[in-house]
Amino acid sequence: MSDLQQENSALAAEAAKTLLVKSGVKKFDIALTLGSGWGKSAEAMGEIIAEVPASEVPGFHANGVIGHSGKLTALRLPDGRNVLIIGARTHLYEGRGVDAVAHGVRTAHAAGVETLVLTNGAGGVNPDYGVGEVVLISDHLNLTAVSPLKGAEFVDLTDLYALELRAIAREVAPELREGVYAQLPGPHFETPAEIRYLQTIGADAVGMSTALEAITARSLGLKVLGLSFVTNPAAGLQDEPLSHAEVIAAGKAAESRLSELLTKIVHRLP
Ligand code: HPA
Repeated sequence: MSDLQQENSALAAEAAKTLLVKSGVKKFDIALTLGSGWGKSAEAMGEIIAEVPASEVPGFHANGVIGHSGKLTALRLPDGRNVLIIGARTHLYEGRGVDAVAHGVRTAHAAGVETLVLTNGAGGVNPDYGVGEVVLISDHLNLTAVSPLKGAEFVDLTDLYALELRAIAREVAPELREGVYAQLPGPHFETPAEIRYLQTIGADAVGMSTALEAITARSLGLKVLGLSFVTNPAAGLQDEPLSHAEVIAAGKAAESRLSELLTKIVHRLP
């Protein structure tokens, strides 16, 4: 392991220890990262055993992005498994670097997690995918020009979004369609020309998270499920300009539906 990798895993171990001690559990089994629109999902899923502000967990930051809770929540599922809800995702556009983006996933791994659910709010690039639709991520395009991995770590990303987890999600919600998620660095939205480019290269949804976290997860051996909630037609696909307020409003309108869907999926995860 390089010095940098050691530093990253030491910080993750410290964060994991803080969360385990504050929650009084030995390990977490599943972790969820909640994106725009998905914030309410935690409450319905199980019994809350601890809520920890991001500022109290090493390496985490309250990011101030409206639509993100800024805390980490420990839950116990009805079957006794422990779930870590990461409501304090660090985005690449915050300028803290790619290690800060990967830190949540590294922490989940250090806390014992084997299955990671990544959710996000996304722009619909494929015009067939309407506002309000949840898209099961089948693959991604990492257009950030960076990787969370350093050194000669040649990780295979075939089937990064685990087929078996996608099958479970479709059993729970047969209406879910699959699609390719493109992560761009943001924080600006895309131009209409960029969206036409994304359509050409096979993207169905676009956002500013998820792909880098999924790569980190795969490098650590976690199984990943990804869910995109379409909050708006991507740039140029509607007459109105894009706004974060639109993203938040779409999330609020779908809050209880998303929470129900995620709860059903999480309860069925292996
Ligand atoms: N583009 C990028 N990120 C997003 C969008 C979008 O249209 N909607 C929600 N997150």
